[in-house]
Amino acid sequence: MERGFLGYDASPMLDVVVCALVLLVPLLVWSVFQAKVRKRFALHRTGQLVLAAILLTAVILFEIDMRLQGGWERIVNRDPANPRLTGAALDQVRTMLSVHLCFAISTPFLWGTTIILALKRFPNPPVPGHHSGLHQKLGWISVIDLVMTSATGLAFYYLAFVRTAA
Ligand code: HEM
Repeated sequence: MERGFLGYDASPMLDVVVCALVLLVPLLVWSVFQAKVRKRFALHRTGQLVLAAILLTAVILFEIDMRLQGGWERIVNRDPANPRLTGAALDQVRTMLSVHLCFAISTPFLWGTTIILALKRFPNPPVPGHHSGLHQKLGWISVIDLVMTSATGLAFYYLAFVRTAA
C-alpha cells in the first residue's frame, strides 16, 4: 500500500483530504468576510459554491479511499503482524473518529440546505432581503459545523498518523 505524500503512514488520498480540510477554513473566513464586511454578495456566493465543491470532492475521495483500502484500521495498522496502534491508543482514535463523523455527516446536509435556500430565495445578483434572517442563522451554523469537521478530522489524522510516526 502506497504511503501518503505528507510523510506519514497514511494513504495519498487521505493526505489530499487533509490538505482540503486545512484549505477550507481560510477560504471560508474569506468568503464570509466578503458578505459581512465588504458586502460583495456575488463573490460570497461564488466562494461558497467553490467551497461546497471542494467539500463534496473531499468527502467522495475519502469514501472511495476507505472502501479501496478496506477501512481506516487497515491503513493505520497496515502490517497486521506488527500493528502501530493498539489498546488505549487505538480506542482514542476510534472515539475521535466518531466525534468527527457527527460533524462530517451533518455538514453536507446543512450546506446543501443553506445553499439551495439561498439560491432560491436571494435575487440574482444576490442582495440582502426577506431571506437574510434565516440565511444568517443557517450560515453561521454551517460555518461552525464545517470548522468542527475540519478540526476533528485533523485531530483524527494527528492521533492516527502524526503522533505515532516513527
Ligand atoms: C453553505 C453556504 C453558505 C454559507 C455557510 C454562508 C454563510 C453566510 C454567513 C455566515 C452570512 C452572514 C454574515 C453576517 O453575519 O453578516 C452570510 C450572508 C449572506 N450570504 Fe451567505 N452563505 C452561504 C451561501 C450563500 C449563497 C449560495 C448565497 C447567494 C445565493 C449567499 C448570499 C448571502 C447574502 C446575500 C448574505 C447577506 C445577508 C444579509 O446580511 O442580509 N450565501 N452568508
